[in-house]
Parts: sequence; structure tokens; C-alpha cells
Amino acid sequence: MSSNTDVQLIKNGKRLSGRKLEDLREIKIQPGVLDNADGSCYLEWGNNKVIAAVYGPKEAMPRHTQNPLKAVMNYKYNMAPFSVEDRKRPGPDRRSTEISKISGAALSKVVLLEKFPNMQIDVFVDVLQADAGTRCAALSAASVALADAGIPMTSLIACCAAGKIDNKVVVDLDKPEDNHGQADVPMAVIPRTEEIVLLQMDGHLTADEFKTAMRMAIDGSKKVNEIQIQALKEKYQGELNGD
Ligand code: CDP
Repeated sequence: MSSNTDVQLIKNGKRLSGRKLEDLREIKIQPGVLDNADGSCYLEWGNNKVIAAVYGPKEAMPRHTQNPLKAVMNYKYNMAPFSVEDRKRPGPDRRSTEISKISGAALSKVVLLEKFPNMQIDVFVDVLQADAGTRCAALSAASVALADAGIPMTSLIACCAAGKIDNKVVVDLDKPEDNHGQADVPMAVIPRTEEIVLLQMDGHLTADEFKTAMRMAIDGSKKVNEIQIQALKEKYQGELNGD
């Protein structure tokens, strides 16, 4: 992020990728891709590729982590070493710890944790290919994987970022836009109520720009939510129909 865009990212009203300011990248979602997890989801979002796996609810271990009132939500975001241009050192770092913490907190707003005292729910999301917006891709996939695991939730969570490039507010920044843009605001929402369960901001926006970015991210999240629902319907209606 820089205070001024140092590369021209919008030409004739179109972004370098050919998208309009309010266009999302293409998103594909496939639930139930792993046999050995209770729930799973593979998601492609532009050039991002992520896979989410859910295990549980199961007895929380070690025992001192148990909460007699509700389940513990363990969310682990991990970037594969080969997911980025320069090989990433394997293992956790400050960035992945932060993303894991806030994403787990966002999911805890919708998962009915109090139904499972002394249990834990593990959500692992691995980024196989990264092109900016991976925390949104990861959380959107995790939400579908939780549904695929049959874990009771009040809603799916959908995620989308908005930001500022070339002094214009746009939705869903890709890697060049993230590198050379002026602001990036990832958000996760409960689509029906528009309740915001995750919001971060990198860079600077005026109050008016922030309002526009928030609206664009919420609208973007709702589009993501439609794709999530469609993907789950295709899998489970297909199974009900014996496909
Ligand atoms: O991916 P997201 O936008 O949620 O997070 P970010 O910290 O804003 O990272 C933006 C992008 O930078 C990632 O999606 C990766 O493409 C890239 N990145 C990288 O190349 N190496 C890292 N260690 C971290 C991020």
C-alpha cells in the first residue's frame, strides 16, 4: 500500500484485469472434496486457490483447553511455501497467526458453539496459490466446509475486500492492485443481516471513501454468498436426487 498509486491501475474506467470498479474476480466453490475430513471445501477466487478442512466437534484436547459452556473454535490459516512468488518459509508467522485469530473469531459469531461444551472444532485452511485476498477466500471456503461438516450455524459467513486504487474505490483487489494501491479493507459479513464480523484496514481512506468501500465489500460478500449457497445446493440436492 502506498499513499499514492505509483502504477497506473485504471485505464479508461477499467482495471488492468479488464474488470470494472465493482466487478469481483471469478469464484468457483466445490464442497466435500476431502474423504478424511468431516467437512471440506476447495475454492478458487481469481488466481487464489485455497482448501479448507473441518474436523469435529470432538473432545477438546489437551483437557485444560475445554470450556464447559461451549466448544473451542481452532482456526488455522496456512500459506503453502509454493503459494507465492518468492518461496514462503513454512510454518506459522505473525501474519498467519493474526489471520487465524480474527477468522476464528468471525466464525464464532455464527457457529452454535454452546451446543458442544468441552468440545473443539478444528478448521484448517491452506492457501495453495496466493494472489491477494487470501484471507477472504480462506474464510469463505471455511464457512462452506463447516456447512459441509453439518455443524450448526445461524448463517454462512461471506467475505470480500474493497479498497482504493488510482484514487478510486474498487472491490476485490488483486495482487498488482494490492501492491500498488492506496487502501485494502477486507470484510466478512453475515449476508442476511449485513452484520460485519471481520473488518481490517491497510492504507488510508476518507470517511466518505470508507462508506463506499464498506458498501462495495458488503455487496461483494453477498455475491460470494450466492455462489456458496449454489455450491452447497448442487452437492446436496445432487446427493438427494441420487446423482
Ligand atoms: O492475501 P491477503 O490479501 O488476505 O493478505 P495480505 O497480507 O494483504 O497479502 C496480499 C498478498 O501478498 C497475498 O495474497 C500474497 O499474494 C502476497 N504475499 C506474499 O507474496 N508473501 C507473503 N509472505 C504474504 C503475502
